[in-house]
Amino acid sequence: MAQIKVLAFAGSLRQGSLNKKLVKQAAKGAEAAGAQVTYIDLRDFNIPVYDGDLEEKVVQPEGGFRLKKLFDEHDGFLLSTPEYNSSIPGALKNVIDWLSRQVEGERVYQQFEGKVCVLMSASPGAFGAVRSATTTRAILSHIQTIVIPPSVNLPHADQAFSEDGTLKDPKMQARVEKLGRQLVEFIAQSKK
Ligand code: FNR
Repeated sequence: MAQIKVLAFAGSLRQGSLNKKLVKQAAKGAEAAGAQVTYIDLRDFNIPVYDGDLEEKVVQPEGGFRLKKLFDEHDGFLLSTPEYNSSIPGALKNVIDWLSRQVEGERVYQQFEGKVCVLMSASPGAFGAVRSATTTRAILSHIQTIVIPPSVNLPHADQAFSEDGTLKDPKMQARVEKLGRQLVEFIAQSKK
């Protein structure tokens, strides 16, 4: 079987993002399970706010084409999202909106259909951004992504990480790495 490829990213743009930290820990588990993990930072793709007139002119922003190619090349995603005002952050929704637009020669929802996703969330608050995760799960499911049930919603995330980026609580570190493994195992099973 060809090596499983996983794309890891957070729904936050900011440099010190807690969700970027969390997804990187899950990526370790996916790598340990034999996957090739590509970590990307959505900030590097400079995606403008979706605008139908802009779409008519350019089809996709340059970063959108790059992201589509990356999504095409990977079997699944590790995604950790923040929560803004009890919901999915605009930047993440905006990226999903652009990528969901079918480009000539593509299948509908090509970048999402049949891709397997492990979804996490993190917040300094007590609920670990679970409301955002719930909404994000629904959005991705509607565009044909298989969001598998195991997940982590990390509360008090501003206190949760050590200097080296790992989680202070070894049980939580193990749980998050296990998520990465579970993603790879699910993809391997579905390729059989
Ligand atoms: C927040 N934050 C927040 N947190 C939460 O748990 N529930 C919420 O509804 C909100 N709402 C919210 C709105 C806006 C506009 C901002 C900027 C922030 C706090 C948020 O969880 C915190 O900033 C996280 O650190 C963001 O995630 P990253 O960037 O650290 O990954």
